Amino acid sequence: MRFCCARETLARLSGRIGSVGNPLYRDYEKLVEITIMGQKFRVPEKNICLRAFQYVSPQTIPYGRFCWNQECQLCRVTFTMAGQEDVPPRPILACKVLVAEGMQIVELSDELKWNLSGVLKPAEPRPPLE
Ligand code: FES
Repeated sequence: MRFCCARETLARLSGRIGSVGNPLYRDYEKLVEITIMGQKFRVPEKNICLRAFQYVSPQTIPYGRFCWNQECQLCRVTFTMAGQEDVPPRPILACKVLVAEGMQIVELSDELKWNLSGVLKPAEPRPPLE
């Protein structure tokens, strides 16, 4: 599982995980676990998926070509829910749908692939000690 370590750690240490006062995010009480292309992340509940992606990759998502307003279609994703294997994957707009515990994002638009490529790359193997 991957965490947004510094931000999550600071929030937990300050006891403000539920009310970070960050105007980017709707108020949230906890982080929920989602999977993006097979990798697990913890993101703020009660926020739209695109905002959750911004939590995961704050250096790139704000600079994506997203309208954030359900018009450009550049945030299209397909998701399934953990424990609902009999339900077919559903296409949605990440700027419209709220994130939910157990959400599994299985397809990303090209714009999201590019914007999330830094966090979705497989971890590099640690170099051996000499
Ligand atoms: S960001 Fe434009 S449709 Fe979602």
